Amino acid sequence: MILIKLGGSIITNKEKPLSARRKTIDNLSKSLKKIKEPMIIVHGGGSYGHYWSVKYDMHTKERRYDTRGVSIVKNSMIDLNKIILDSLLKNKLNPYCLPPTDFMFGNKPIAKKIKEIEKIAKTGLIPVTFGDALWFGQKKTFILSGDKIMTHLANILKPKLTIFALNENGLYSDFKSKKLIYELKDQNPLISKNKMDVTGGMARKVEEATKIAKMGMNVFFANGNKPERIVQAIKNRKYEGTLFRGKNV
Ligand code: IPE
Repeated sequence: MILIKLGGSIITNKEKPLSARRKTIDNLSKSLKKIKEPMIIVHGGGSYGHYWSVKYDMHTKERRYDTRGVSIVKNSMIDLNKIILDSLLKNKLNPYCLPPTDFMFGNKPIAKKIKEIEKIAKTGLIPVTFGDALWFGQKKTFILSGDKIMTHLANILKPKLTIFALNENGLYSDFKSKKLIYELKDQNPLISKNKMDVTGGMARKVEEATKIAKMGMNVFFANGNKPERIVQAIKNRKYEGTLFRGKNV
């Protein structure tokens, strides 16, 4: 089982609201077609859901957010999801759309449902899910990031490899020189919000990747503009990006 997150920064143009990078998405689909094992795709919000969640001041914390914002974020994620599904279909893959409401109860993953997703993937269908605005309970909602979904899925399904496709070559030790970190083992990269390499978004990915590596699985950050690197990692264990080596792997 392979788990792949298509980050919002790679599938959308973050500078421009509601703009998908259709060519990049198509190239990713073409490369994913070369992978001959069960996989699950998770995608982010980028200039769709992420854009609206910022506008309506919605966060990952459970609160009574503006109901209008909840609707608009959800709608925009369906629009972006449709673009991804269409691209996969066009490239002869068989996506199986799965909104996160299908396997989440409040902010808790439903293990039984997630195990079923694995069965779906093993038939050759490709489950596709995404970060979204979700009902929590007691009139509260929250933003569930695609990164968090990756951790929930990895925890239950123990994928052979978990991949985050980014708009960068991987994680840099120094953002100015773009010096790439090739491998991290038994260590947490220091991500401070004002130094760094990183936007808030990258910090969250690193946090989730570190959790998954600590569970014992390899996590790979790759440049989604070079999707053949994703194929290489899966087929030949050649990691041109940043590898978080899982403890005990
Ligand atoms: C964002 O998911 C979901 C919404 C804001 C609705 P992610 O947090 O995974 O999105 P990206 O990849 O950082 O854009």
